[in-house]
Amino acid sequence: MDLTYRPRRLRRSPAIRAMVRETSLSAADFIYPLFVHEGAEVEPIGAMPGASRWTLETLRGEVQRAWDLGVRCVVLFPKVADELKTEDGKECFNEDGLIPRAIRLLKKDLPEMTVMTDVALDPYSCDGHDGIVSATGVVLNDETIEQLCKQALVQAEAGADLIGPSDMMDGRVGAIRDALDEQGFEHVGIISYTAKYSSAYYGPFREALDSAPRDLGVKPIPKDKSTYQMDPANSREAITEAQLDEQEGADILMVKPGLAYLDIIYRLRHESELPIAAYNVSGEYAMVKAAAQRGWIDERAVVLETLLSFKRAGADLILTYHACDAANWLAQD
Ligand code: PBG
Repeated sequence: MDLTYRPRRLRRSPAIRAMVRETSLSAADFIYPLFVHEGAEVEPIGAMPGASRWTLETLRGEVQRAWDLGVRCVVLFPKVADELKTEDGKECFNEDGLIPRAIRLLKKDLPEMTVMTDVALDPYSCDGHDGIVSATGVVLNDETIEQLCKQALVQAEAGADLIGPSDMMDGRVGAIRDALDEQGFEHVGIISYTAKYSSAYYGPFREALDSAPRDLGVKPIPKDKSTYQMDPANSREAITEAQLDEQEGADILMVKPGLAYLDIIYRLRHESELPIAAYNVSGEYAMVKAAAQRGWIDERAVVLETLLSFKRAGADLILTYHACDAANWLAQD
C-alpha cells in the first residue's frame, strides 16, 4: 500500500512509545483515603477488600507505608460510634474527636505527609445526611454551614493541610475560607468536592462508615442525597459549581465519582486553571476488586489503566484506595 501516514511507526518499540507518551502516572499524584475507628482491632471492610478501618495505633504504620511508596497525601474518614451521632452532628467539632486526634498523631510522627480531611456531617449525623435535617425532612443549608465551619477549624487547629468540604451545601467554600482566615489559618488549603454527584457508587463507603441515610421514625428523612448532590444527568451545572468554588476561594477542584464522570474532569480542566482532582470512589474500587478476585480481570493492568485515564482526562490528582498498590506497581515498572 502507498500510505503516507503510518501511525504504527511510533508504536514500534517500547522506547519509541515511551518517547511519545502523552500522560504518565506517579505516586505523587495519589491521595490515599483511610478509614479510622475507635476500636482496638483493625477491621476489614466487606465491600472493599484490601481496605480496613484502622485504629489510631495502626494508622501511623499504614501512612508510613504509603509515604515510603511515594504517596504524599492521605485523607481521613471516621467511623463514629452510634452513641456519638446526633441530629446536629456536633461530634464533628469535638477537638478530642477521632479525626483531630488522628491528625495530631500523624502530624507529630510524619509531619511531612500532607493530611487532607473531609468536611461533612454524615459520619456524625444520626440521620446519615451531610447536613442537618429539619423536622419536615429538609436538609438545611445555612445552619449546616455553621457546623461545617466549626468542623474545619478544629481540623485546621489539629494540623490539617487541606480541608475537603464534601457536603455540597451552597456557599460552604467561602464560609470555610473566611472562618479559617479569621483564625489565622490562611495557609490551610481548600480542596473542594466541586462536582459531587448523587451516585450509587458510594455504597461501599457508606458501609465502611455505617453512614447511609436512615429513618429512625422521628421525622421524615430523605432516602438519598439528591437535594444537595448533583444530578448525574448534568454537565453544565458542574461548570457553575466550579465557578462558584473558584470565586469563594477553593484551591483545588474535585470531581466525584471519577470513572463515570471523565467528561466532567475534561470539561473542568478546560474551564479552570486550578488543579483538578478525581475521586476514584469506593464502588469503582469494589467492582475492580470483585472481578479481580474471581480472576475475571488482571487487577494490576486494570487499575493502572484506570488511574491513567483520570490523568488523560485532565486530572492532576487522584484520590484512590488503590494508592499503595498502584505506587508499588509503578515502582516495579
Ligand atoms: C461524605 C462522603 C462520601 C464519600 C466521601 N465523602 C459519601 C457520600 O457522600 O455519601 C464517598 C467516597 C467513596 O465512595 O469512596 N460526605
